[in-house]
Amino acid sequence: QGSVQLAVIPGDGIGQEVTPEALKVLEVAAPSGVKFEQTRYDLGAERYLATGEVLPDSVLGEIRRHDAILLGAVGGKPNDPNLPPGILERGLLLRLRFELDHYVNLRPSRIFPGVTSPLSEAVLKGEEVDFVVVREGTEGPYTGNGGALRVGTPAEVATEVSVNTAYGVERVVRDAFARAQKRPRKKLTLVHKTNVLVHAGSVWWRLTQQVAAEHPDVTVDYMHIDAAMIHMTTNPQRFDVIVTDNLFGDIITDLAAAITGGIGLAASGNVNPDRTAPSMFEPVHGSAPDIAGQQKADPTAAILSTALLLDHLGHPEAAATVERAVLADLSERAEAGDTAPRRTSEVGDAIAARVAG
Ligand code: NAD
Ligand code: IPM
Ligand code: MN
Repeated sequence: QGSVQLAVIPGDGIGQEVTPEALKVLEVAAPSGVKFEQTRYDLGAERYLATGEVLPDSVLGEIRRHDAILLGAVGGKPNDPNLPPGILERGLLLRLRFELDHYVNLRPSRIFPGVTSPLSEAVLKGEEVDFVVVREGTEGPYTGNGGALRVGTPAEVATEVSVNTAYGVERVVRDAFARAQKRPRKKLTLVHKTNVLVHAGSVWWRLTQQVAAEHPDVTVDYMHIDAAMIHMTTNPQRFDVIVTDNLFGDIITDLAAAITGGIGLAASGNVNPDRTAPSMFEPVHGSAPDIAGQQKADPTAAILSTALLLDHLGHPEAAATVERAVLADLSERAEAGDTAPRRTSEVGDAIAARVAG
């Protein structure tokens, strides 16, 4: 009840096109008596190129006081000489994830009815594909712990050191077990590369075994990341909850999106389960400079991210309503075929209309 303070960061490229559609849907999906009060933050490439600012401390301080964050995408035009690689990704997106302690990067993957997967019927066998990747969001090779020596010389050495703390690994593993326990199949797969990354691997392996002992009802298995990619393309039905580190999780979830109908449908939440700071919801995709500004982007991923947001804020029924509307829209698409692709705003309008009933 009451008002929800929502920080909105449309960001760059198609982020600016899909975010208004997500807000359109959120507006009509909000339970009666709940008002989403938005503060819009213009952060991203444009601001950086104009002012040199990526995420000023004062803005971060303001964002922190909101109940949740909705983000579109960040990342400017590729090879812009004025935009060093990583400046927005690290300075804006990762800074938010780290500062707000988004240690659970939640990425559900489901083949919705009527959606065409690039996987063949022989692989899918008419069975459900419905798994969730619990990607660690604050550690691993993403911490920026590394450096370079003798840059530009033939003797250059560059390192990116993966940080894996017992504290950080245990908390995300615990969250993944809790999620597995609530799902019908109660299965958890740890994905790592313990055969090569033996130091990090041993922390992940040991803590998973330890937490598993407290959850005898959850079936646990382990796969190396490379083999997991085989199974994801030949038998994705086998997965239920996958827990993995930050970088493996990034890669797995683009493949997961591809096999479940495309990156335009993949939603995510950067969740702070302890609620010490606002969680942030965003599509898995980026700013897609190749199609930006043309109203070609599918806003479904951004819209489904609002369902995750509603659920996180304690409105599961509103979340389910958004999901149902998306499902209905997807089956209508399946019937219409590819003959008449809709504009970004048309998809948003259609889904919002279904939510409004
Ligand atoms: P991308 O996800 O932006 O695009 C990959 C491909 O998918 C492109 O062909 C694009 O057109 C297509 N695509 C993406 N979203 C789509 C949608 N909603 N509908 C239809 N097609 C869609 O990945 P990229 O090209 O590797 O990265 C572009 C920029 O975005 C980079 O600067 C990258 O760092 C950044 N990025 C940001 C985020 C984020 O903000 N969370 C995520 C990924 C990449
Ligand atoms: C994602 C993106 C980000 C990541 C980049 C842009 C920092 O690829 O959200 O999947 O690697 O986490
Ligand atoms: Mn990614």
